[in-house]
Amino acid sequence: MAPPTAAELDDAIAQVLARLDRALPQFSGSFPAPSSERLIYPAIGNVEWTNGFWTGLMWLAWELTGAERYRSAAEQQVESFVERADRRVNVEHHDLGFLYTPSACAAWRLTGDTEARRAGLAAAELLLARFDPVSGVIQAWGDLNDPEQAGRMIIDCNLNLPLLYWATEETGDARFRTAAERHLDQASRYLVRPDASTFHTFHMDTRTGAPSHGTTHQGHSDDSCWARGQAWGIYGFALGHLHSGREDLVALAARLANYFLNRLPDDLVCRWDLIFTGGDAPRDTSAAAIAACGLLELVRHLPLSDPDRGLYARAAWGMTRALAAHLTPLEGSNGVLAEAVYHMPNQIGISECCIWGDYFYLEALVRMRRIWRPYW
Ligand code: GLY
Repeated sequence: MAPPTAAELDDAIAQVLARLDRALPQFSGSFPAPSSERLIYPAIGNVEWTNGFWTGLMWLAWELTGAERYRSAAEQQVESFVERADRRVNVEHHDLGFLYTPSACAAWRLTGDTEARRAGLAAAELLLARFDPVSGVIQAWGDLNDPEQAGRMIIDCNLNLPLLYWATEETGDARFRTAAERHLDQASRYLVRPDASTFHTFHMDTRTGAPSHGTTHQGHSDDSCWARGQAWGIYGFALGHLHSGREDLVALAARLANYFLNRLPDDLVCRWDLIFTGGDAPRDTSAAAIAACGLLELVRHLPLSDPDRGLYARAAWGMTRALAAHLTPLEGSNGVLAEAVYHMPNQIGISECCIWGDYFYLEALVRMRRIWRPYW
């Protein structure tokens, strides 16, 4: 498969920007909900784990075009992230990296906004507070005194760890990086099964530090492999290597990628759980977009001589091309990418737009079009 041409990518990017422009008047003082309803995102305040993706889309669009409307929308939203950190609004979970990395940390890097930096560091402190030194993991959800949730890590957290590495780079305080590295270690040891599929979540004993058992939350079953979890794993372990320099994480990301690619349907868009390899099972375009970004990150870290480097690049190109067939119609939607699945067991956002899918689709296109320094 030939790499996408600049013209092909510019056309795909223009399709995304047209859809962002369509939504922008609605979502300047508010944010899209995590998933759409009949392809329309309801407007919400800065209260969900997903708000950073809309701001990240604005920063990507601004980096691509230099258009003032994207920068001013992003800056207005970053103010609400500062307020959210100051007032501690819905921050009792680990998704602080999803929230603050593509919003406030990107703002600090791109524009030198010192309030954004302060908010990013406050978010990193909140994430660090969720690290349990006995089990060596960051508790994903719930109150830190909740025995049901204590010691439960989830594969998605891999994308929250760059916030901790960033905080160490900014402050010189090694506590953040040390926690990220211990968590990465435990995630690679226990969330990944021997066949390189992943558990969505894994429970550690916080009294002894011993591993207990894996379960799912959004997947088909405890022993299946939730497609988006596997995608978070591919991307997150590749980023783990980027930040820690650990060579074994490149090989691990590649093993997860092999498992994912071996279960791709003919149309190259994964189904919502990798137990399904085609048929009527709903696609998860958002998992495909995350995996494409992960593969592109992985390719950056593989030596030119690696026999599978070309395979991963071609898979990322093919999957991203395939996603173009799932863009929302220009009328009747305010999202970008249709046919994602948010939460099948709870029947939320099935075959809908998911805001992180929109974000990672544009990130994949940006990564292929230009040299781009990841926010993560
Ligand atoms: N991090 C939650 C999800 O991927 O749905």
